[in-house]
Amino acid sequence: LQRAFRTHHGLQCGYCTPGVLVTLTDFLARNPDPSRDEVREALTGNLCRCTGYKGMVDATMHAAAELRAQKGA
Ligand code: FES
Repeated sequence: LQRAFRTHHGLQCGYCTPGVLVTLTDFLARNPDPSRDEVREALTGNLCRCTGYKGMVDATMHAAAELRAQKGA
């Protein structure tokens, strides 16, 4: 997930990034094949007014696909 955030420019400030990564790590453990809307819903508790969430959603979808591939799903 961290690698995907770097690749897709999803990294934000030192407050937002840790909270988003912790939120999404838990989210992907519970939902390994999410839709983009589900990712956006998962991020509703992490408010950042500095950017859109596109990079974060792109990164999460990428990470989810890689994690599924690693698990052979
Ligand atoms: S990047 Fe942290 S408040 Fe926007």
